[in-house]
Amino acid sequence: MSTATIARLKPYLVQLEKGKSYFWCACGLSKKQPFCDGSHKVTEFLPLKWVAEQTGEKLLCACKHTKAQPFCDGSHNSLSDTYAEAGEADGVGVVLVDYVAGEGGALKAKLDNGCYVIRVPESALSTLGTMKIYPVIGVVDGAKNLSQYQAVVATGQSPVLSYPGSDVVLFIVSGQGTVNIGHRAFPVSAESGVCIKPGEGFQITNKDAEPIAMNISVCPPCATPETLEQMPQVFDTSIPDRVQGVDESKQEAMADRFFQVLIGDKTHGTPVSQFIGEIPQSRAAHHRHLYEETITILSGEGFMWTDETKTPVKPGDTIFLPLKQAHSLECTSPDGMRLIGLFYPSMSPSINY
Ligand code: FES
Repeated sequence: MSTATIARLKPYLVQLEKGKSYFWCACGLSKKQPFCDGSHKVTEFLPLKWVAEQTGEKLLCACKHTKAQPFCDGSHNSLSDTYAEAGEADGVGVVLVDYVAGEGGALKAKLDNGCYVIRVPESALSTLGTMKIYPVIGVVDGAKNLSQYQAVVATGQSPVLSYPGSDVVLFIVSGQGTVNIGHRAFPVSAESGVCIKPGEGFQITNKDAEPIAMNISVCPPCATPETLEQMPQVFDTSIPDRVQGVDESKQEAMADRFFQVLIGDKTHGTPVSQFIGEIPQSRAAHHRHLYEETITILSGEGFMWTDETKTPVKPGDTIFLPLKQAHSLECTSPDGMRLIGLFYPSMSPSINY
């Protein structure tokens, strides 16, 4: 069979109506993308008829190479050797935003539409036993689906924590130790993701002099963790493996960049997706996602861009991206930029529009 024509290299966002039939263009020739206009008649392709299961917005494939027809599965990103880059005109009129000191000395750069970058010095963290913690993203910041905390655990044991009713995902930024979940001990080290199910408690043990620095992401958002007297007996045995580190065999290419999902629905049965990625010195074209997202810079420097604003970013900074926020992350470091991203609900990080 011949290859379908690429209508364009990113999907179409369309509003669908539950129970209604649609015809998705499979040949790529339709002038009414992403739907069929009869142009396939000169090809061997047939349109795909399907009935929408829900009313709402969906991203329909326009590159015609998806393996999840008619929906975009991110395949469009691997059809080119280079990621779509921003043009000169994209920077015209964009305002450089400064960081402003807020609560406890945390610095925040407020970009468009509730998007922001936060830079939290350790002195701003509140003490919770051997742990120090700061809420970098929460409902008060405009987040609807996720919250995130920056935390540091000194030598010893953290309190037993629980975020009732929420899925919790940890990312160990530096240090090493053990995470106890429901009386099971999981060794962790830098660049590990950890999955904790709703109703479970967790406790960090650090036997080293070096503190453990980590992100605690909580979906749906939860304003404050509960500190418990004892570890609950709750442990979801259907997901026995809870830790995933960097594994080159699990990395997925996206043109000249890559990502690896550490925690997600396929690996850990959680609606939260956590991924680690690396981008080369470049500035991607603006794109959007159908989810709220948080990104923490692990190495490398650059700028976070939105339509009207931009601000410099460096290791340790956390970015909050509201739903559908147009954005791009520019890496100015010759050695590239490494980052950890997290979004909710779960899907492939390569699905963008
Ligand atoms: S547009 Fe085809 S997979 Fe995304």
